[in-house]
Amino acid sequence: MVVRVSLGSRSYDIVVEPGVLASVGPRLRALGVGTRAALVSDPAIRRLYGKTVAASLEEAGFAVTAVDVPEGESAKSLAVAEECWNALLEARLDRTSTVLALGGGAVGDVAGFVAGTYMRGVNFVQLPTTVLAQVDASSGGKTAIDHAQGKNLIGVFHQPRLVLVDPLTARTLPEREFRSGLAEIVKHGIVLDAEYFADVEASAAALLGRDAATLERIVGGSCRLKAGVVERDERESDLRAVLNYGHTVGHALEAASGYGRWTHGEAVSLGMVAEARLAERLGIATGDTTRRQERVLAAVGLPLEAGPLDVEAVLAAMTRDKKARDGRVPFVLSPRIGEFRLVSDVPASQIRAVLDGLQGGPGDGHR
Ligand SMILES: NC(=O)c1ccc[n+]([C@@H]2O[C@H](COP(=O)([O-])OP(=O)(O)OC[C@H]3O[C@@H](n4cnc5c(N)ncnc54)[C@H](O)[C@@H]3O)[C@@H](O)[C@H]2O)c1
Ligand SMILES: [Zn+2]
Repeated sequence: MVVRVSLGSRSYDIVVEPGVLASVGPRLRALGVGTRAALVSDPAIRRLYGKTVAASLEEAGFAVTAVDVPEGESAKSLAVAEECWNALLEARLDRTSTVLALGGGAVGDVAGFVAGTYMRGVNFVQLPTTVLAQVDASSGGKTAIDHAQGKNLIGVFHQPRLVLVDPLTARTLPEREFRSGLAEIVKHGIVLDAEYFADVEASAAALLGRDAATLERIVGGSCRLKAGVVERDERESDLRAVLNYGHTVGHALEAASGYGRWTHGEAVSLGMVAEARLAERLGIATGDTTRRQERVLAAVGLPLEAGPLDVEAVLAAMTRDKKARDGRVPFVLSPRIGEFRLVSDVPASQIRAVLDGLQGGPGDGHR
């Protein structure tokens, strides 16, 4: 499946196809870029997929420099970005050169930041290897590193020239990492496309079994949905906020717990449960809509209950979020599957109530 992201002179293709990484060389060649390339990855991913990618690039005539960054979130620092800039300078990459990111969202974010700033911006290619990166982080052009004050605070918009998604790379992911990525897939269905959501519902078991055809169809469908949003709102001025469904509460849970307790996808799953119940409490959605969301999340192995929470700390984290405006927290809610609505005036008492309910245990009328 090829998804075209139409952004005028910044348009690009997302190619979703098993084995597509082996064709990166000729595909990059076809874009008419210079012959120097830097392949940014972490050692674990490089061991799995680095050879395939480097061989394809070299056969197509590229001079490839390998740039290693640390695994996971620790790659997203100014010190690592600086090491990358140094490596690009040393390999004499110029304005026509290309930076490729092979890995998860962390590699993509730091490599994209480096590509967007090196010589005021060079060609960038995303080769995402986690489900999260495939359906979310690799398209859209948001890049970032972290700051002591918070995650993703320093960055630039820099669209890739090409995104190659090999859905089979998901097969080497640890189980928890794999399931975590499915949260963004469920999210896309809930707020953007009822038919797609129904396909995810029907495909839950095949997805968990990492069936090749299912992965290709579902991951590809999610790329298409994200691309549609990015096309309509490249700079995240309003519509793109729809992708924040489950994230208002999810990010606050992550921040309030010091990022160690849940994976991002688990926190987003809890966030979607909370926000579905919030919509129900506000009379925006019915209980059926909430339960359908809960059922599919449970079916793909994502949590519905958070356990004990410091509710006030979660609320405080929510108002500190960079998307909060003047202390007011805007929510994306879903009136029914496939639709969304922005709601900016949610009373704190209602948020408190759903956070309370998220803890589970006796008194939670939702289970
Ligand atoms: N730019 C955006 O629009 C955007 C959107 C969402 C998330 N993000 C960012 O993405 C990051 C999270 O990304 P992530 O969830 O992909 O995690 P990650 O990039 O931190 O990678 C997680 C781990 O998985 C390993 N890994 C990657 N692919 C593998 C594979 N195929 N097989 C086995 N192991 C593999 C990596 O080595 C790493 O240890 C966060 O920093 C987040 O801020 C960015
Ligand atoms: Zn997310």
